[in-house]
Amino acid sequence: MRTVYLNGEYLPETEAKISIFDRAFLMADGVYEVTSVLGGKLIDFEGHIRRLERSLLELGMPKPDAFDELLDIHRELVSINRIDEGLVYLQVSRGNDGDRDFLYPDPEAARPTLVLFTQSKPGLSDNPAARRGFKIISTEDVRWGRRDIKTTQLLYPSMCKMMAKNAGCDDAWFIEDGFVTEGTSNNAFIVKDGRIVTRLLSNEILHGITRAAVLRFAKEVQMQVDERKFTIEEAKNADEAFVTSASTFVIPVVEIDGAMIGDGKSGPIATRLREIYIEESLKAAI
Ligand code: PDD
Repeated sequence: MRTVYLNGEYLPETEAKISIFDRAFLMADGVYEVTSVLGGKLIDFEGHIRRLERSLLELGMPKPDAFDELLDIHRELVSINRIDEGLVYLQVSRGNDGDRDFLYPDPEAARPTLVLFTQSKPGLSDNPAARRGFKIISTEDVRWGRRDIKTTQLLYPSMCKMMAKNAGCDDAWFIEDGFVTEGTSNNAFIVKDGRIVTRLLSNEILHGITRAAVLRFAKEVQMQVDERKFTIEEAKNADEAFVTSASTFVIPVVEIDGAMIGDGKSGPIATRLREIYIEESLKAAI
């Protein structure tokens, strides 16, 4: 059985309990981070914590009491649960003051709830999906307008992942005004004539930590990067496409809405970026 963390305590997963009035449960008033683990070490940890801090600030949510101990808590859970390859899920909610109300509770009466748990994923670094590539469907982006905040409002992304699965595909890309915003739980990229294209940062997409690292590594090896919007038509006619996230690193996309991308195989640039990302991230892992 897993050991999880809840508000200062390490507990067996069946003993960790939160209130039915918790605002993450009633209102999705919570933010989260997912940090990957390779070789028992944390990947891009600082980036995830910086983004968590920003999400909290944007929502006026107090920092959990243990904010400064988050690295130790991550490491302790990875160690207790003997995670070699996997993920650490972290969630902060606004807590509750013992009732349901649209108004935020007084921060003195309601401390934030902090939850962390691990997910063991042997084979995370050697994912067969990276070799065969993802098949993607596109779907209208009807999420709210602050997608830069990593909130736990994940019903629409969940619905769209189910739609993709039911269509025999791996994932969905969201489209707004004809342009791709991002994937259900990843950032979206295309490659055309050797240039890597991905949407520029704004409130319309999550500022992916893996996206930032991949763009940095791409520039370091003299690949050309354009941060701009691209349409789904442009994506279908690209030489390659791929997605990035903490839970998948870099995965090539080989099909969009039934249209084959390039020769229908995992592309060389996406595959190379995956190798570089894993190699460099392992070197910097803590
Ligand atoms: N999702 N865009 C969305 C909508 C996401 O949910 C995620 C991550 C990303 C990629 O961000 P990062 O590179 O920082 O993981 C982009 C996580 C993995 C999840 O929900 O499980």
